[in-house]
Amino acid sequence: MKVGLLESLNVELPDREYPILIGKDFLSESISIGKYISGKQVLVITNETIAPLYLEWLINILGKENFRCESLILPDGEEYKNLKHIELIYDKLMALSYDRKATLIALGGGVVGDMTGFAAATYRRGVSFIQIPTTILAQVDSSVGGKTGVNHPLGKNMIGAFYQPRCVLADIGVLDTLEQRQVSAGLAEIIKYGLIADREFFNWLEENIEALCCRDHEKLAYAIKVSCRTKAGIVAEDELEHGIRALLNLGHTFGHAIENVMGYGNWLHGEAVATGTCIAAEMSRKMGFLEQSDLDRIIDLHRRAQLPIESPSGMTSKQYIEAMGEDKKVENGKIRLVLLEKIGKAFVSDDYDDDILYSVLKEVCKE
Ligand code: NAD
Ligand code: GLY
Repeated sequence: MKVGLLESLNVELPDREYPILIGKDFLSESISIGKYISGKQVLVITNETIAPLYLEWLINILGKENFRCESLILPDGEEYKNLKHIELIYDKLMALSYDRKATLIALGGGVVGDMTGFAAATYRRGVSFIQIPTTILAQVDSSVGGKTGVNHPLGKNMIGAFYQPRCVLADIGVLDTLEQRQVSAGLAEIIKYGLIADREFFNWLEENIEALCCRDHEKLAYAIKVSCRTKAGIVAEDELEHGIRALLNLGHTFGHAIENVMGYGNWLHGEAVATGTCIAAEMSRKMGFLEQSDLDRIIDLHRRAQLPIESPSGMTSKQYIEAMGEDKKVENGKIRLVLLEKIGKAFVSDDYDDDILYSVLKEVCKE
């Protein structure tokens, strides 16, 4: 596959439009990252797994463009995505006397991206930041759209801000070092875009899922572009999630319950979303929206992507309901769910029969 910048699209927000650039080895060759940095002070935030792989590479690129470039290496894991570790970022910025013209660069997956974005949103009431996502999940979802934040012991992503990056630079080459389980977890979010908005893309995924699991670069670049295009369109229409953006949470309400109950980090976010999506699909079928044949295709595609399609053994329907009650997608005491009318068309509902929800959960929990 050729190297360089392969795809470029924009998140079109008034006054804050920014590009998503997708390519292979393009940072050092095809674009100037300096174009997206306003001052001279740069702090790269990454973690202890990614630093040995890519930090020096990025620092070299920035060094060539004459930036004052410092770095901060956080511990690796969802369990560190909390305010205590955000403080480490503030401590570093204060110790460096970085001012309001500083730029933070997130070099990592969704955890590093969400934390860096939140620190950028809040340090001196807001400094610029750039996303260099290094997981599939981060390249197709978390780096785009400006949701930033951290977890609270009582709930995931409960503390945060909407704050958009200056650009998203997604290099497919870095995906080669991902663990296979992380590849599958990222594919869960890619499948989501087919399900909520793009039946044709879902069909394409059925044709190409094994190649994506094997990290075929060309196919990954295509899948990432289509996913980002859908996400960018939704974010442009509804940045603050008053409406259509909620569709991006397909599978997430059930998925967050799984993550919460199983303990952060035991089930990967994408794995929990995969099972959550299968539960949402089953509920949609039970409510008479989704055809059985579509449900079968959804479960089969997740299975072929090597994702879990069954609820964690031992987790109870009561635990789901309790954990879902903590989820931020609850309005007026009713849990809002994203459901499917068919592959390619989703909707948000709080107008469903609770008995159907309970019976689906009892079924998936084998009670
Ligand atoms: P992650 O950030 O924990 O990364 C997964 C693992 O892969 C980590 O161990 C990481 O160190 C490692 N890793 C990252 N890049 C690597 C590379 N190129 N090579 C080798 N190892 C690498 O997890 P994630 O799946 O990227 O993100 C999950 C997080 O994203 C969750 O906290 C979730 O809440 C959040 N999220 C946010 C949004 C949003 O809109 N902001 C959307 C979806 C998910
Ligand atoms: N990942 C969901 C959103 O960005 O809205």
